[in-house]
Amino acid sequence: MKRRVFLGNLLVAGSVAGASSALAEQCLKVPASGAGPMKPLQKPLWENDLTRTSEDGPQAAGMRITLSGRVLNAACEPVAGAEVVIWQACVNGMYNHPNEHRNDWRDPNFRYEGRTVTDEQGRYVFLTIVPGSYPVPGKSDPGLGLVSFRAPHIHFTVTPSEGEPFTSQMFFDLFDDMNKFDLVLYKRTLQEQKLLTASVIDGGDGEPAQCQFDIVV
Ligand SMILES: [Fe+2]
Repeated sequence: MKRRVFLGNLLVAGSVAGASSALAEQCLKVPASGAGPMKPLQKPLWENDLTRTSEDGPQAAGMRITLSGRVLNAACEPVAGAEVVIWQACVNGMYNHPNEHRNDWRDPNFRYEGRTVTDEQGRYVFLTIVPGSYPVPGKSDPGLGLVSFRAPHIHFTVTPSEGEPFTSQMFFDLFDDMNKFDLVLYKRTLQEQKLLTASVIDGGDGEPAQCQFDIVV
């Protein structure tokens, strides 16, 4: 069975129907953010299922999510044919990257990065897991009393067929209490924080949770 995750059934009616009511707000551009040190060294394979590393291999640990949404421009028009690359930590907050200097357990069954392309409606989809948070030693802000850590997040770069790449990272509303102390997010306005935060809805019956995130570039 082919592992690639297809659009269609995975984009539940709720997420598509919800787009119209949320559209005006979500047509506000998503705040950009640096790629950070864990950016893939080369373009990932065309693979949108990060929950396994091989066809019939074991499943990665962690809470599975179907991450989907649309890439839109500021006029709320879908951006078709845009390349979407994501990279993230495993459930233990570890990256699979030469710049990962911590020595903790790293999930061998997780793919860590993926790549897909938007369809005619600007839609994209990945099957992945909610990453773990991780410490960032030496990056705390003592004046604000912040703990030096990153809340769970997924990095992404969207490259339209015409135009410049757009890079940022998305957070999860599951962790709103933690998000406001994240080293990247805490400096943002509440509106910016909202634009950078994906909603997560229980998938039910052991299915992956539905994580909806529109990317306005
Ligand atoms: Fe990160």
